[in-house]
Amino acid sequence: MPTMTPYTDEVAKRRTFAIISHPDSGKTTLTEKLLLYGGVVNLAGAVAAKKNQRSTASDWMELERQRGISVSSTVLNFDYNGYKVNLLDTPGHKDFSEDTYRTLMAADSVIMLIDNAKGVETQTRKLFEVCRRRGIPLVTFINKMDRFGKEPLELIDELEEIFGLPTYPCNWPIGSGSNFQGVYDRQEKELHLFQRTEHGSYKAPLKVTDIHDESLKEIIPPNEYTQFLEELEILDGAGHAYDYDAYLAGTQNPVFFGSAVTNFGISQFLHHFLPMAPAPGPRETQANEWIAPDDKHFTGYIFKIQANMDPKHRDCVAFLRVCSGRFTRDMSVKHVRTGKTVRLTHSYKIVGQDRETVDDGYAGDIVGFSSNRGLFAIGDTVSDGPNAEYVAIPPFPPEVFATLRNKDTSKYKQYTKGLEQLSLEGAIQIITLKDSIDQNATVLAAVGQLQFEVAQYRLESEYGVATVMEQMPELTHARWVSGESEDVQALRGMNVQSAKDSQGRLMALFKGEWAMEYTIKQHPKIAFHTAPIN
Ligand code: G4P
Repeated sequence: MPTMTPYTDEVAKRRTFAIISHPDSGKTTLTEKLLLYGGVVNLAGAVAAKKNQRSTASDWMELERQRGISVSSTVLNFDYNGYKVNLLDTPGHKDFSEDTYRTLMAADSVIMLIDNAKGVETQTRKLFEVCRRRGIPLVTFINKMDRFGKEPLELIDELEEIFGLPTYPCNWPIGSGSNFQGVYDRQEKELHLFQRTEHGSYKAPLKVTDIHDESLKEIIPPNEYTQFLEELEILDGAGHAYDYDAYLAGTQNPVFFGSAVTNFGISQFLHHFLPMAPAPGPRETQANEWIAPDDKHFTGYIFKIQANMDPKHRDCVAFLRVCSGRFTRDMSVKHVRTGKTVRLTHSYKIVGQDRETVDDGYAGDIVGFSSNRGLFAIGDTVSDGPNAEYVAIPPFPPEVFATLRNKDTSKYKQYTKGLEQLSLEGAIQIITLKDSIDQNATVLAAVGQLQFEVAQYRLESEYGVATVMEQMPELTHARWVSGESEDVQALRGMNVQSAKDSQGRLMALFKGEWAMEYTIKQHPKIAFHTAPIN
């Protein structure tokens, strides 16, 4: 019997998840609709809230304003049917950053949002891979059913083929675009009829006990009705059965169809998704122990650091995911990496520019701490009990590279300090090339171009250091390497370059995917890793 602690009920209520999607699939819209149903925004304000969301979230940093994007990501909370929902908001721009990946590390499950006309797009694939590596349970929401798109069966095939996971459509659409009639809930066996509304209010579903009900023939045009019945037969006959354990293990993909902009399918989605999505589970420590979320001791780790949140104070906000026990404001905890005792005083929840004080939190909750620069690094564990450290958040193999030069040599100290801080915050990775001719240049590596822009901007605005950046477009892939030193030493060629990361771990950088695959084949004695081997 698992032991109950005062925190067991709190943990069971929590759902901490993120939405992954390709830009324009409707993530902002879906987020807003989830907030609408969660009672956070009212209907009248909903559209305006969406329009304002980008600008308010963007204000804190001039670069974001200039680019009209949001680099920061925060957490949105709402209560729904007894659940405490933490929706981790990943940046909505098309450029990747490691922040997006790290945010996924803090989520217990994920909603994969797909545009019904576009199907699976590149960014969704990449983000899916991150979820798969961690075995994060994932449901798919196929959006924009009020518009013509691909055939639903074709979309299901595409999902199965690309992701290699059996799918289970939890509901099934009848028609699409101007002929969209609604969705049939396969579990509850009820039909929800669609009514087109202007960013509209939700119409209550029409409940039918039998899909062969005669009255439906008057509501649904014959072609759509026949096609729907045929498709349902195919799904029931040849499709996969729903397997909850497989979903939890990340090996089955439940699918929902809906239309976020018209609010269609949102309450139905929440009704199914929240009970099935996992509550926070145990987390593994570096000593291969697992700490239960309702453990009596508070523990958590930093998964994101955002400097410059408030330009007036030049402070730094470290975002912590509570992993066990109870966080209370002002508590003193051990910062395990340094062994120091830290008082967690300035605890916030941040939405756009607003900060709201957070007084307590349980496993699954996200708390932002305003602190001095340098106190926290990505992956740091804090604890009021054992000296455990959670398994580190690995840096991701970079895909873009650039050299950076300090324009003014008298600013050498500021330049080095700034880069060190940016690297500690995980804003960029710093790499040393083995045979670099130019010793004055720093090599920066990242997963998205935007990280470079942010780094350059911050060096100038926070450290007063102007820099020149030059892209290295020929380099496209990187792996950490391990093996016998003579084998690793022999790793060179036209299309591969040896390097070290900021902690001195060996890496190989490649000119193109083909070069990487070729090199890996040519060097069977060397192991190539997507995360560093300590
Ligand atoms: P993103 O955050 O994933 O980038 O997407 P966003 O929500 O901004 O949505 C992208 C576009 O898709 C928006 O149109 C939005 O209205 C539209 N959209 C979202 N969900 C649906 C849906 O269920 N059906 C249809 N038909 N469209 C949907 P836009 O023209 O770019 O912006 P707006 O003027 O409508 O705000």
